[in-house]
Amino acid sequence: MAKQLHAQWSSRLTFILAVTGSAVGLGNIWKFPYMVGDSGGAAFVLVYLLCIALVGLPILVSEWLIGRRGQKNPINTMTEQARQNGHSPAWGLVGLSGVLAGFLILSFYSVIGGWSLSYTVNSISGTFAGQDADGVGELFNGMLASPGVLLGWHSLFMVLVIGIVARGVTKGLEGAVRTLMPALGILLLVLVVYGLTTGHFGETLAFMFNPDLSAIDGSVILAAMGQAFFTLSLGMGIMMAYGSYLGENVDLLRTARTVVILDTVIALVAGLAIFPIVFANGLDPSEGPGLIFVTLPLAFGNLGGGAFLGLIFFLLLTFAALTSAISLLEPTVEFIEERTPLSRIAATLVSGCAIWALGVAALLSFNVWSDVLILGLSIFDFLDTLTSKFMLPLTGLAAIIFVGWCLERRSVRDELGLGDSGAMVWNLLARFVAPIGVILVFVTSL
Ligand code: PHE
Repeated sequence: MAKQLHAQWSSRLTFILAVTGSAVGLGNIWKFPYMVGDSGGAAFVLVYLLCIALVGLPILVSEWLIGRRGQKNPINTMTEQARQNGHSPAWGLVGLSGVLAGFLILSFYSVIGGWSLSYTVNSISGTFAGQDADGVGELFNGMLASPGVLLGWHSLFMVLVIGIVARGVTKGLEGAVRTLMPALGILLLVLVVYGLTTGHFGETLAFMFNPDLSAIDGSVILAAMGQAFFTLSLGMGIMMAYGSYLGENVDLLRTARTVVILDTVIALVAGLAIFPIVFANGLDPSEGPGLIFVTLPLAFGNLGGGAFLGLIFFLLLTFAALTSAISLLEPTVEFIEERTPLSRIAATLVSGCAIWALGVAALLSFNVWSDVLILGLSIFDFLDTLTSKFMLPLTGLAAIIFVGWCLERRSVRDELGLGDSGAMVWNLLARFVAPIGVILVFVTSL
């Protein structure tokens, strides 16, 4: 049994709040709907749900389990546990790849966090009032075309993230998560109700839940799997780090189920809120990363009290983005703090500035550098693809192979509190379904 080496979460609820803060973010509300639209709707949703249940959930449990046993940062945890179980310390690379992924993801995440900030301010100033689809589209494209505007918002977002992480107050945000996340959920539901009035809700249901199985191909599967990792904050060592503060008495499976259901419901509700507006206004569901920014202002511009609702919505979205961004920055900061003589504040500044600079390259790819391509992708798309579709799944794969194949089966079973049949299902998932699933996705899509 692991010795208690450092502090623990005060309760299961605090742990759930912290994990939800990381998991629920732009991935659910910005990325999920546009990927559904991009990848043809229900076929993507179906594969996504399968990935969440068969791959995401077991990997989430595995990361927590490794973290709770190791009680250290992900790199040391992996190295030591590998040694103890007679395996190569090279497993520590899993932790390192996670740190790097967080660094890369935050660079483009903060650009979108900046969009959300900008839309908060635009809602206050009434910019969206009475706009039609063309007007809203022009506003969005105007923002994209202006490097200065994007730079300003991206910088502001990064300053907020750096400020919070440097002061080490990330834990203090749990209380806020507890009230603000449900508020965000309620506002999404208000938007769904608005969607019901557009007369395009049936179309939305069919688009999201009536799959055309022939539309499922390698690229849809890879995108869905990447999104499952991204939205649950997997494959980054983040969940491993959180698990290291977990007490022995927390039921990992039950907690994982709660978190996964919450995260998935928020994403689906976001889709149900956005697509009626898309269809009602004749917009293109495969609009891409701008999707929520060209649809939601239409709803807010036409709803009674919409300016106020828009303001609150984008404020809450920015908050959700911030709590996720913090969890993206934290591993890099801890890594630098431990490996160099830098203080926490200095480590945060150094990593924050490096991430900010990479983010500048990402935002320029929407305008002046739009023809700079890496492997045929813009800088923004390249960073997203590299991390979501490759780095996260590969790191997560390593984590589940480690739990399924390298740790003693009996002790994992005890730790998860499984009976005979539960253990059979777990072994099937952790040893075969999840790892083979991830490998198959790679093989078929490459
Ligand atoms: N899960 C977060 C979201 O959905 C993004 C994230 C990815 C955060 C990976 C941490 C690690 O917005």
